[in-house]
Amino acid sequence: MSNKHVTINDVGPRDGLQNQAKHLTVEQRLQLINALLDAKVPAIEVGALVSPKAVPAMAGTDSIISQLPSANCDFSALIPNRRGYDNGHALGIPMMSLVLAASNTMNEKNIRMNTAAILDVSRDVLQQAKQDQQAVQAYVATAWGCPFEGAVEEDAVLDLCDQLLSAGAARCVIADTIGAANPEAAFSVMTKLVSAFGADKLSCHFHDTRAMGLANVYAALQTGIRHFDSSIAGLGGCPFAPGASGNVATEDVVMMLSQMGYATGIEMPALLAAADLAIALTGTAKGGKAKYWLEQQQYARG
Ligand code: COA
Ligand code: ZN
Repeated sequence: MSNKHVTINDVGPRDGLQNQAKHLTVEQRLQLINALLDAKVPAIEVGALVSPKAVPAMAGTDSIISQLPSANCDFSALIPNRRGYDNGHALGIPMMSLVLAASNTMNEKNIRMNTAAILDVSRDVLQQAKQDQQAVQAYVATAWGCPFEGAVEEDAVLDLCDQLLSAGAARCVIADTIGAANPEAAFSVMTKLVSAFGADKLSCHFHDTRAMGLANVYAALQTGIRHFDSSIAGLGGCPFAPGASGNVATEDVVMMLSQMGYATGIEMPALLAAADLAIALTGTAKGGKAKYWLEQQQYARG
């Protein structure tokens, strides 16, 4: 893969929908996934195999997984524990994503385990995954700041990644859950992580709470990161992280990368149609800036 190729994983159907007041039906969620497939999005997080009491909007993810079309796409689902893993493996989802936070309080609020306990759970899942030849990656959430504990030490992120990758995680997704990062901080942590583990083992997940999402993507790109999460129409937010707003919008990341000469394989007109659908289905997604700009360009060309 050339150094100018970037892989985008759209997390809209999970991160984007988990916090919506209006819960979409399984059919509507599949409609959104299919719209992303039409745009040739190469990786999609389709839902979360979590307790439906904890996150009611993600109930039915098992049914979504069993109805996924065969497509040239890396489908994944979030899991919080062994039960999620066992469900996902039985359903044949190609990739699962464990969720851990770099701050202890966030782990306690989000998954009702402290960091030591979720690390034990993760090691058990990763060991089973190795036997099953099942790919499992891990989110490292609140990597740049925690809504409960404030600033997070870089060493806490490095240490957690070290433990997860040593235990067999396919990749660590470094997540700015509440949008606390800034480009210098993004550059600093990602430089250290890339030098310790290599860019192939890492991905970045930025929320655009303070309009720094694209700048943070750019900063991480400069450290060699070529794998990013983003969310169609900028949907997103964590129900257990006060202040978390949407992810950086997929259409904006794709527009920026394409203008800088990076290939993503994603087709913009179909991607904008997927953004329109996300807005129509939720009634809350704002949509990125790309659409307005591209429409103006067309208008200007007559
Ligand atoms: N999938 C579906 N149901 C699950 C489950 C899973 N992976 N894990 C547990 N459950 C069920 C249990 O069977 C139990 O159901 P019951 O009350 O009908 O008996 C219920 O969920 C609670 O299980 P318990 O083991 O007592 O867990 P808990 O109440 O301590 O909650 C988690 C722990 C991890 C299951 C829960 O906090 C969770 O699902 N968190 C996900 C958070 C999330 O997705 N955050 C956003 C993404 S960052
Ligand atoms: Zn997120």
